[in-house]
Amino acid sequence: MTGMAWAGRLGIVIALIIIERASPALAWVLVIAAAIGAFAVFLYGGRYLPGPILAVADRMTGKTQARSEATAPELIDEQELSAFLKARVIGQNEVIDALARRLRQRLAARREGKPVAVMCFAGAPGVGKTYLARMLAEKLYGGADHLHVFEMAKFRDEYSASSLFGVAAGLTGHGEPGLLSRALRDTPNGIVLLDEFEKANRAIHLQFLSAWNDGFLTDLGTSSKIATTEAIFILTTNAGWPRLAELAADPLITQDEMNEQAKNALQDADFAPEVMSRIDDVFAFRELTGLDVARVVALEIARKAGEYRLEVAHQGIDWAILLQAIKDFSATKPKGGVRDISRQIENRIADGLIEAKAEKARFVRFEADGRRIKVIAVDEGEDETPARTVEATREAEAAVGR
Ligand SMILES: Nc1ncnc2c1ncn2[C@@H]1O[C@H](COP(=O)(O)OP(=O)(O)OP(=O)(O)O)[C@@H](O)[C@H]1O
Ligand SMILES: [Mg+2]
Repeated sequence: MTGMAWAGRLGIVIALIIIERASPALAWVLVIAAAIGAFAVFLYGGRYLPGPILAVADRMTGKTQARSEATAPELIDEQELSAFLKARVIGQNEVIDALARRLRQRLAARREGKPVAVMCFAGAPGVGKTYLARMLAEKLYGGADHLHVFEMAKFRDEYSASSLFGVAAGLTGHGEPGLLSRALRDTPNGIVLLDEFEKANRAIHLQFLSAWNDGFLTDLGTSSKIATTEAIFILTTNAGWPRLAELAADPLITQDEMNEQAKNALQDADFAPEVMSRIDDVFAFRELTGLDVARVVALEIARKAGEYRLEVAHQGIDWAILLQAIKDFSATKPKGGVRDISRQIENRIADGLIEAKAEKARFVRFEADGRRIKVIAVDEGEDETPARTVEATREAEAAVGR
């Protein structure tokens, strides 16, 4: 604690004594307001104080207040992070390994006045780009509170920048921080996911440069500087994916070559050279193929069951369901990638899961019945180990591979 801070506190006490002499009621009001403020800061890290109060606090201190406690560790276990992500995000092992390696470096050796990292995930729709970012936030920060998602397609015109970076002085709405500034002010240590970045206006792309080059952005609404040095920026894009898909079909192409091609695709999609030069890494995602689809579907079934507080019984997913999913996937080549197939399956099992829940079941089995999926409540003995998701998936894979 500096001498200045103590002098300031002494000043406040003296001012209160003087006010108390003049008007005891006013002094009480001030003391109660201060107590409520202190309580809010203690309980919520200031997150729920009204925006204008936070803005004033920021202006007075001239810097961003870190209001969220969880920070990414400086030293992460690369293998552990990879294993966590690979168990959830299927078919992107090379991307995950490279990402874990890079993040380990970036978190251990911070660059002065720069975000932890600026990365781009490129690839076809529904291959796990957004999902990987979500899983990363879960592993690094323990949940979605530290993930700020921005659908960049909403910022197609130049003027929409004000919703991200605040409204300039003299215009209606000035005084409130923009969405991005607010998110980073409240939780500076997290992942900023700029989904479908190529869909935002080029002028808005350029507004991110200060966030990436200087380690802060200036919010026009509150005229305050918001630090970006604790953030990991992840851009996702579909730019150039048909070409990437073609390349990925070549079994001999390396991940590095794919990443290089993805970079070219971003340039072709009109990413400004300044933006390109600030992206640390571009990761090209591969399209999911047969067994990947089976694994994703098995994971989705287990996840969906989990939402109903049900568990998949040992060997509880009929391989015919997964085989059908693979066939459907390769026959229809759905626009939304594997997410479309998962959604169809979710719809087909939802009623069965509700019935199993009504029967107060704990474990369920999924059986193919033509195009239908039967959900069967099973009585699994306490001593039998219920199938964990990964186990079930492996069995399904083995079955599909038969
Ligand atoms: N590789 C994967 N592993 C596990 N699940 C996946 C994978 N890819 C997609 N999914 C499932 O499909 C859903 C949609 O995937 P996601 O949102 O990550 O796609 P995307 O690559 O971001 O596509 P888009 O470019 O259309 O945004 C996820 O929520 C997840 O349930
Ligand atoms: Mg996405």
